[in-house]
Order: sequence, then structure tokens, then C-alpha cells
Amino acid sequence: MTLQVVQLTDIHLCDDPNQVLLGVNPEQTFDRVLLNLQQQPLPDLLLLTGDLTHEGTKSAYRRLRQKISALGVPAYYLAGNHDQTEEMIEVLGRENLGLNRSVILGGWHFVLLNSAVPGRVEGHLGSRTLHWLDKTLKEYPDYPTLVALHHPVLPIGCPWLDRLGLEDREDFWLICGNFPQVKGVITGHAHQEHEVFRFTRKGMIRCMVTPSTCAQFKGNSAEFAIDNLPPGFRRLSLEKKGKLTTRVQRLD
Ligand SMILES: [Fe+2]
Repeated sequence: MTLQVVQLTDIHLCDDPNQVLLGVNPEQTFDRVLLNLQQQPLPDLLLLTGDLTHEGTKSAYRRLRQKISALGVPAYYLAGNHDQTEEMIEVLGRENLGLNRSVILGGWHFVLLNSAVPGRVEGHLGSRTLHWLDKTLKEYPDYPTLVALHHPVLPIGCPWLDRLGLEDREDFWLICGNFPQVKGVITGHAHQEHEVFRFTRKGMIRCMVTPSTCAQFKGNSAEFAIDNLPPGFRRLSLEKKGKLTTRVQRLD
């Protein structure tokens, strides 16, 4: 059996559904992404990797919950720098959140990390989360593993964004580098597609950054710049033996 996973990221649903951000209405583009998903065989799992809402308001989380429940696919919600954890818990339900959660599904281990720090754009895992990451990876050595978090775990070639990435990423790699079962890391935050392999003592880990479902940032740009590429999301096919194939799909 091959597990089909879809990653949706940086949705930025606003309190006011008519609000336009960087020339794009996030509500409309997200609805179009969901329509696109419905027109093809539905995935087995949805991972929503942060910046789910723009201002972290309950009304935006409520609309997100309604839209995702309508698909009828299991989903986990992670936090980004724009999210508000208390509102997420209240509206989405603690059991649906991926704020340091380990999920076993279809022979794979999903490690969902919380890299968001209240009031800050940069990501940080911190010693408690890193300790938990180490523990959960030790617990399931025999499952191929996909790690998900909001902030990219490697520089992506945009200096302005790299300064706003995961501060303790070297600590993250010190742990992940010990576990050959880790096959991939999916992240958002950068509103663009980027992919690179990280070679560790124990193997090779595919690091994937995924476009936003709304506005896009220009790749390889020293300063903040908008790209006119369409909104997108990521599909992943996960085979039992640990093979991972992936592609980004964009709206027309
Ligand atoms: Fe972000």
C-alpha cells in the first residue's frame, strides 16, 4: 500500500474573508486548492504546516475547520508564526493539532513539531521539543519517518528569509542525523518551492519547502520580493519500504 499525503501550508485565512494580502485573496485561493483536491482521488492524510490563519482569530480557524472537515480526510494542524495556539486548541481541538505529536499511519511515522514562538517570526524548537524528537525517533526505529514543521530546516537561498528560519536547526540536525529511518522533512514559511538533500552520517534526508496556498515569494532573492507564480501545495507518495516521491502542484 502506498500512502498519499497532501501538505497544505501558509494558508493565511484572514479574519475578514474578503481581505487581500499581497494582491491575493487567501480565502479564494484556498477554496480553489480544495476544489482541486476534490477533483482527484482524495489523499489518506492532510498535513497543514502552519500560518493557517493570518491574524490567529477564532473566526478564521472556524472557517478553516469547516472547509477541511468537508473533505472528510484525516488532518493535522501545525502552528506557524502567524498562528495563535490557544485559539487553535479551542477551535480545532487539541487532538487534531500537530504541536509535537507522533502519528503512525500506513507503516510510516509522522513527527509533527511545533517551531512557532509566540510574538516572533523566527522558529525555535527548544530543548524540550528536541528531547521529545529524540525520544520519539528512538521509539520507532523501524518505521520510515516524515518530519513536519513550519520553519525550513536549511537555508533556501533567500538571505532575508534564511534569517527568519529555524534558529536551532543545527540541534535539530544533530538529532535527526542519528536516525536512518528519517526520509524527509516538510516545511512551509517561505512561500516557495525548494528542495535539497541533507547528507548525514546515517543517510540522506530530503528537505522540502512548499509553496503557499496564497501569495508566493521570489526564489533566490536577497530581499523580500513577490513572485507571480500561482498558489500551490505538495503531494507525497509514501511506500511501505520507505520510498518517498513528491511533487508540487500549482493552480492553473
Ligand atoms: Fe510563516
